[in-house]
Amino acid sequence: MSSFLRLLSFLRPYRKEVAGSTLLAVAAVGVGVAIPYLSGEAINAIRQGAAHRALHGHDLHRLQLYAGLIAAAVCLRWLLTVGRRLLGGRVSLGVEYDLRQLLFAHLQRLELAFFDASETGQLLSRLTVDLQAVRFFLGYGLVFLLQSAAWILFAAAALLAIDPALAGAALAPVPLVVLLARHYTRIARPALQEVQQRVAELTAEAEQAISGIRVVLAFAREQYLRSRFAARVEGVFQQAMKATRIEARYNPTLAFLPQLGITAVLLWGGEQVVQARLSLGAFTAFYFYLNMLIAPMRMLGVFLGLGQRAAASGARIFQLLDREPRQRKAPQPKPLPAGEGELCFKAVRLAVPREGLEGSEPGEEILHGVDLRIPGGSTFALIGPSGSGKSSLLALVARLYDPTAGRVLLDGVPVDALDLTALRSAVAYVAQEPFLFSATIAENIAYARPDASPAEIRRAAELAQAATFIERLPDGYQTRVGERGLTLSGGQRQRLAIARAILAQPRVLILDDATSALDATTERQLLAALADARPAPTVLLVAQRPSAVRFAQRVAVLEEGRVVAAGSHRQVAAASPFYRALFASQRGAGRAAQPVAGRAA
Ligand SMILES: Nc1ncnc2c1ncn2[C@@H]1O[C@H](COP(=O)(O)OP(=O)(O)OP(=O)(O)O)[C@@H](O)[C@H]1O
Ligand SMILES: [Mg+2]
Repeated sequence: MSSFLRLLSFLRPYRKEVAGSTLLAVAAVGVGVAIPYLSGEAINAIRQGAAHRALHGHDLHRLQLYAGLIAAAVCLRWLLTVGRRLLGGRVSLGVEYDLRQLLFAHLQRLELAFFDASETGQLLSRLTVDLQAVRFFLGYGLVFLLQSAAWILFAAAALLAIDPALAGAALAPVPLVVLLARHYTRIARPALQEVQQRVAELTAEAEQAISGIRVVLAFAREQYLRSRFAARVEGVFQQAMKATRIEARYNPTLAFLPQLGITAVLLWGGEQVVQARLSLGAFTAFYFYLNMLIAPMRMLGVFLGLGQRAAASGARIFQLLDREPRQRKAPQPKPLPAGEGELCFKAVRLAVPREGLEGSEPGEEILHGVDLRIPGGSTFALIGPSGSGKSSLLALVARLYDPTAGRVLLDGVPVDALDLTALRSAVAYVAQEPFLFSATIAENIAYARPDASPAEIRRAAELAQAATFIERLPDGYQTRVGERGLTLSGGQRQRLAIARAILAQPRVLILDDATSALDATTERQLLAALADARPAPTVLLVAQRPSAVRFAQRVAVLEEGRVVAAGSHRQVAAASPFYRALFASQRGAGRAAQPVAGRAA
């Protein structure tokens, strides 16, 4: 129930519209309720005319009057209904608009670890499918529900006014209907919530299959994938069938019970008309009212179902909204001090917990106490075996993750004391697998600074050794890249990502193995250009090739989450077998044996 009440709170900005559409709905019901009464009176007039075998004078006038009133009532009801639908649409779409913005803004506040542990499809389905269910109910369903209730009340009151005893017989099944409706809502909600969950799993499966289509095709796994997908579809089908069976049992029953009353009314009421204790007109009106009760009873069932679905979806939406961001925020964030981008890691430990929507689990420790100083204004290389924690260490600088213990300082200030936006604009991180948006090349490069001039964009592209290939493209900088940049080669993507980072004018430029897909010559040209132009005072790079490592003045070796050597090339060469092996492999290839600081020195 609580998620239901919470859903209602989203109607607050639309109080006026909701009140308006409720008013219109009740007015439409009021007008509608008059129609059987007027019909009854018209029939009485006809009957009296029939008794005289002619319709004239008083009877004719009465018939014309009632027919006219009925026509007017029908027209009025039509107008009221149009108005209600317009207002209802405004509410429904408004709630959808608000909720979508709210959810999206909330998603953006969550930390990276949340996304690590969440499936994209799960999140997307909450933003779309669940939102639809909620907005439809809040916009239309709720008013329909009220309208149906008003119909039932008004019609029941009219029945009682015409003949209380007959009304008693006709309304006898109603308490049963109410009990049944309550029972129905109780068992339907969990079933419907499970349907939504399985739809989300299906979405997640489809999302994976589509984004991983290259692997699927390359390994000819279509058949396997189809059977996995079929299992998901089957899961949705089975659960939806379960929910449908519940609905099928209860919904028609809710409509069927009041219909039983009709037979009783025909038998007993007919008798009373014949004995002249009830006019034919009143009996007809009674019969109409009773029939009028049936549709709203059925609608009540349908909209209670919609309400259950909305509550189920609402619960899923609130689960997301209630997932608090777990990244600490400095209460009084400090501005970035002046500096060249000196970085200090002090006893840094990191374990990335799994923190999705379904609780959290602590993760394995990746970094086990890292102490490292990276002098400002220098080029620094971080090397180490695959899986040693290099990317994880770099991710701490821009606070993509926060360390579980220890601290990271930028120019002497702990990064978690800094204003997060200021920190992130001072640090440009080029990830190991660069991500491009499906936009033009220029838009991708200018992502951090959309106001950058074409000349600045070109300059960044030149530094990143990307200008040549971009200019060869048919639309140059205006070429649209496919989703995730899949229409470009790996090395082209990497260079665009580097250009994007350069254009951000950071204090610290982090290249996480960001030149791995380039040929050795292009990599050398790129690093040389960076060393000359110095787009950032401090460059921190992870590299696998000695030629790239050589560009750094200082090196650190990370092994199994610990720094095992750090310092000048000579110091590290003396201390680290890993470093010696790296350069030895190159010596074997007949290159310069002596590791030396490169042009940046
Ligand atoms: N988001 C994460 N959540 C949990 N564990 C992670 C996460 N990212 C990485 N790991 C684990 O941390 C360890 C270090 O990973 P990391 O990516 O930092 O290595 P790396 O040194 O960058 O390796 P490579 O040279 O292959 O890029 C790995 O064992 C990996 O499984
Ligand atoms: Mg890595």
